Amino acid sequence: MKGIILAGGSGTRLAPLTLPTSKQLLPVYDKPMIYYPLSTLMLAGIREVLVITTPHEQEQFKRLLSDGSQWGISISYAIQEKPEGLAQALLIGESFIGTDSVALILGDNIFYGIGMGTALKSMSGREGATVFAYEVTNPQEYGVIEFDTAGKAISIEEKPKSPRSNFVIPGLYFYDNQAVELAKSLTPSARGELEITDLHNLYLSNSQLNVEVLDSTKTWLDTGTIDSLHLAAEGVRKIEKEIGRKINVPEEVSWRLGLISNDQLLQEADKYGKSGYGDYLRALIS
Ligand code: DAU
Repeated sequence: MKGIILAGGSGTRLAPLTLPTSKQLLPVYDKPMIYYPLSTLMLAGIREVLVITTPHEQEQFKRLLSDGSQWGISISYAIQEKPEGLAQALLIGESFIGTDSVALILGDNIFYGIGMGTALKSMSGREGATVFAYEVTNPQEYGVIEFDTAGKAISIEEKPKSPRSNFVIPGLYFYDNQAVELAKSLTPSARGELEITDLHNLYLSNSQLNVEVLDSTKTWLDTGTIDSLHLAAEGVRKIEKEIGRKINVPEEVSWRLGLISNDQLLQEADKYGKSGYGDYLRALIS
């Protein structure tokens, strides 16, 4: 399975923070935002990642993530000229995806939980599309999913004024290879975007949408607004203090999965100089 991180967008909701840099490079407590979705894809067993950015921000991402070989994976890059919708990522990534299945994650979505790797691995290789459902108090801000009494998904609506449930679909989606052709059949919505919700509705109408409810041992943090960004940073700090470890550290994930050696981990740690992040990586070995 291939992985795509969508890290474009205009970032206007976070201005002026996003005037000099990309939203997905902003810090979430102790690391750049994109480290979170990247380590999530790595935990899912994905080793080939495409990072989609705006034209003017690609260089910054390359400086941070390079070609991925330092973490035992492959990272390539593509450009989204304009923020024309999440589903456009599948069109931009068509040749990268080739004949494989693909996981698409939004560069501003943070997932964490005990057993996350196992849960994610079970999502790949399935027929159709597999998405998560997560219970929130503000469903009108997301893609909302409705279930019948048997727990079967029956509708998905993007940012409805009157949500039919409190379950929303976070920004991590697993697709079989049909996704590219299905995305080609989408037309822009009233706001001019190829909507991911429209793609999911196609899978739903073909009875090929699997929905997994994220249980309470898993956390999903959105960083779409100044307040949610702040809360996400607070949430990460709280989790890390509680468990006495850092979360969503790509170097650690790579090392624990055996993709890099102790020596490579130490080399990576040295890149971070005397920061607490570097010390953390060094301490993993001792
Ligand atoms: O966060 C989960 C939600 O993400 C889902 O529940 C919704 O169904 C889905 O539409 C999306 O809603 P958002 O309102 O959060 O989407 P937003 O436009 O903020 O874009 C999410 C991220 O994707 C953001 O970091 C910017 C980036 N993006 C967005 C668009 C529209 C792109 O890179 N390219 C784009 O064309």
